[in-house]
Amino acid sequence: MTIAPHFQFQDGVLHAENIPLTELAEQYGTPLYVYSRQALRDAWEAYRVAAQGRDVLVCYGMKANSNLAVLHEFHQLGAGFDIVSGGELARVEAAGGDPSKVVFSGVGKQAWEIRAALEAGVKCFNVESEGELERISAIASEMGRRAPISLRVNPDVDAHTHPYISTGLKENKFGIDIALAPAVYQRATQLPGLDIVGVDCHIGSQITEVSPYLDALGKLIDLIKALADQGIALKHLDLGGGIGIRYTDETPLTPSDLLSRVFQALDSNNLGHLQIVLEPGRSLVGNAGVLLTRVEYLKHNDTKNFAIVDAAMNDLLRPTLYDAWHGVETVRQRETSGPICRYDVVGPICESGDWLARDRELRIEPGDLLAIMSAGAYAFSMASQYNSRPRPAEIMVDGTTAHVVRQRETVESLFANEQTIPVRPA
Ligand code: LLP
Repeated sequence: MTIAPHFQFQDGVLHAENIPLTELAEQYGTPLYVYSRQALRDAWEAYRVAAQGRDVLVCYGMKANSNLAVLHEFHQLGAGFDIVSGGELARVEAAGGDPSKVVFSGVGKQAWEIRAALEAGVKCFNVESEGELERISAIASEMGRRAPISLRVNPDVDAHTHPYISTGLKENKFGIDIALAPAVYQRATQLPGLDIVGVDCHIGSQITEVSPYLDALGKLIDLIKALADQGIALKHLDLGGGIGIRYTDETPLTPSDLLSRVFQALDSNNLGHLQIVLEPGRSLVGNAGVLLTRVEYLKHNDTKNFAIVDAAMNDLLRPTLYDAWHGVETVRQRETSGPICRYDVVGPICESGDWLARDRELRIEPGDLLAIMSAGAYAFSMASQYNSRPRPAEIMVDGTTAHVVRQRETVESLFANEQTIPVRPA
């Protein structure tokens, strides 16, 4: 059993749904990202069931995986999108998504991005500073529009997660101090180009417990009441994303753990009429993908065994950036031949930080295939071309059919936008 239900062993070979990963590696080469369509659907279903009977809009936090096929699938299932750039908005539109279900987050929205979002007709701007409020109002007025806005408040709660992905503490750059929020909402009422529609927070990522959400929610409820006393009525409450997934032995909260408590808290405060917006990224895609990689060499020294593979930190940055743990499976399980060794799984990049997994017991030989698990979120979307390595292809498996949803980059494309300059004699 692996941690990902749609990536399981059949006859000793790891499959994506009903296709052996060995076949995909043969056909499309490695390194290769492989996603399961059914895993996306199952993850979505958990949110749908949890939301049943209530007004909930799930806006997929698309920075986790912005492949058009993934966006299109979630759009078909009824999702909106949480975007953080003009580029992400363009992807939503290219995938046929509905801009009226888009919330626009991020601390540094540029004028062109604000304009594009207004033109598209997004549901809401999640505003992170007074300066941004003024800029959005000015641009909207200029365009003869009113921009729907929420303030992203910083509730100062500890999400108990990695410091790099914790966002709801005062020391983070995100959001507006919740204590200052009433004054900033007042300021918003005075600006001509704005429509106040909601309040927003996002406290971090890979959260495994419900309590940080409830702490934040309690503070937001107090704020919503204080605003009502000032005559500011909100339509929605956006609790951001952050629900964690199982990478190894975590037991994260589920969408229904979260939503049932949210509904309870709202109802008991007479706020049951508010629409709930969520922005989950990782929990919708994280365990829907693996990174397939081939062992190039085995190298042993006095203290270490290295499995040098053809994927690297440019393809999957999380291990070295966050010290993140990803499971590693040998795609074709070897019966008994060969010794089990403890390996660091490393890539070909010229950096000591180029590792994908450390101290893993593996029975492998050069040429074997490995699957780096839980690589559906923040994996391809954070990939780069460092060391002039073309980014991998992405495959979406649907039952027994494999679809190429992104071609492998060509070496030529790496420098297609570059040019040399004329020779200048010394
Ligand atoms: N909404 C906002 C405003 C966010 O900043 C994020 C993620 C999300 C939603 C989605 O959060 P999720 O449900 O995926 O936790 N690269 C890191 C994670 C960074 C998360 C950034 N913000 C990683 O690989 O762990």
